[in-house]
Amino acid sequence: MADHRVTTPDATLVHHFSRPNADLRCLLLEGVHPSAEAVLRAAGFEQIERLPGAVSGRALAERLGGVHVLGIRSRSRVDAEALGAAADLRAIGCFCIGTDQVDLDEARARGVPVFNAPFSNTRSVAELVLAELVLLLRDVPRKNAAAHRGEWRKSAGGAYEVRGKRLGIVGYGHIGTQIGVLAEALGMRVRYYDVQTRLALGNAEPVRTLDELLAGSDAVTLHVPEAPDTVGLIGAAQLARMRRGAVLVNASRGSVVDIAALADALESGHLAGAAIDVFPAEPRSNDEPFESALRRFDNVILTPHVGGSTEEAQERIGVEVAEKLVRFNDNGSTLSAVNFPEVSLPPHRGTYRLLHIHRNRPGVLAQVNAVFSDHGINIEGEFLQTDEAIGYVVVDFDMEREFAIDKLERLKRIDGTLRARILTR
Ligand code: NAI
Repeated sequence: MADHRVTTPDATLVHHFSRPNADLRCLLLEGVHPSAEAVLRAAGFEQIERLPGAVSGRALAERLGGVHVLGIRSRSRVDAEALGAAADLRAIGCFCIGTDQVDLDEARARGVPVFNAPFSNTRSVAELVLAELVLLLRDVPRKNAAAHRGEWRKSAGGAYEVRGKRLGIVGYGHIGTQIGVLAEALGMRVRYYDVQTRLALGNAEPVRTLDELLAGSDAVTLHVPEAPDTVGLIGAAQLARMRRGAVLVNASRGSVVDIAALADALESGHLAGAAIDVFPAEPRSNDEPFESALRRFDNVILTPHVGGSTEEAQERIGVEVAEKLVRFNDNGSTLSAVNFPEVSLPPHRGTYRLLHIHRNRPGVLAQVNAVFSDHGINIEGEFLQTDEAIGYVVVDFDMEREFAIDKLERLKRIDGTLRARILTR
């Protein structure tokens, strides 16, 4: 933490406070949406460097000296070397969903919270899935592919309205529930299966087993996370339980569906079609070819993992992540950090606020409190969260009192301290 001289009732005292945002440096990589910069500027940040490309490892380490806030998307790798060179880094924003491009444990061990935007593209996925359901039930993919080849296939056979059809949603979370609501607006009858008890929205009905859902649906759409119990969730046995002529949509994770089994179910005509956005192996860039056993099927909509990729989602992600970074910087809140104890804090108007991040070991909190009690400083509020590695204590204290430099130094000298700073606003 750097020093900052502030005017106090006793101007002779030098205080160690968190620096004003105008003095802090932000580095935004990979063309993060301009909405992020707008949020940061509105919060008083002025030194914002934006780079179009990804920067990783050693090259990133060379850029991180003096940087307080780092923003990346999915291609920059923030490894231990980069983090080791980032002595001033306060927080990392991943302007995307995934965070595995960051060494999260190392960041945590250095007291750096990492934020992302897990739900900013929920609506985008839901809209695409809804459109695909309509197209699949109308047999449009096949007719479209034929038309591109110069074949005219005018027929009502095998084309259905979605109204009145049974939609089975596997995984009734953020995306699943949105799809349920939108599908009902089109007159679909919605049922869902989830391993957790989820509140049914609208007229949706829960079913007790996956098999029951599969057997009773005209269309099945998958919205589960990638987890050991969802890998291969839909294999040959599950596809066989689906109704003949049903359609399947997967915009969740590629590992959830056994692609070879799906190809068999399409080949035999058991399924009338599918829409697949995610694959067990995906090209790493747009320069690599896309290989899949599903490419040969006219009745399959194939999209390159773009379920959540819209201009609106990018803009929302920019705002969501930048707001989390600002909130942590200005207020100390770590709500929804992916690698950090979560503390949701009220505003601290009229008080100072200490943010103290330390290794989780016995006695640190007592020593922090002793600094305040030894100097007769009134604590107005205290918040503590820990995980197995670190503790995060936030102390709001009386602003009328002087809090001189040596007292903060004592806080920073407490054994196990990773970061400490005081907010004045
Ligand atoms: P969420 O966490 O809000 O919901 C997931 C739901 O699945 C939860 O209700 C959970 O209880 C349930 N679930 C977990 N294991 C299950 C199982 N074995 N069987 C049934 N239900 C199970 O997640 P959200 O935001 O709705 O995302 C869902 C999926 O969509 C994730 O895999 C995510 O990676 C993917 N996704 C894909 C995008 C794309 O571009 N195609 C964009 C955004 C998300």
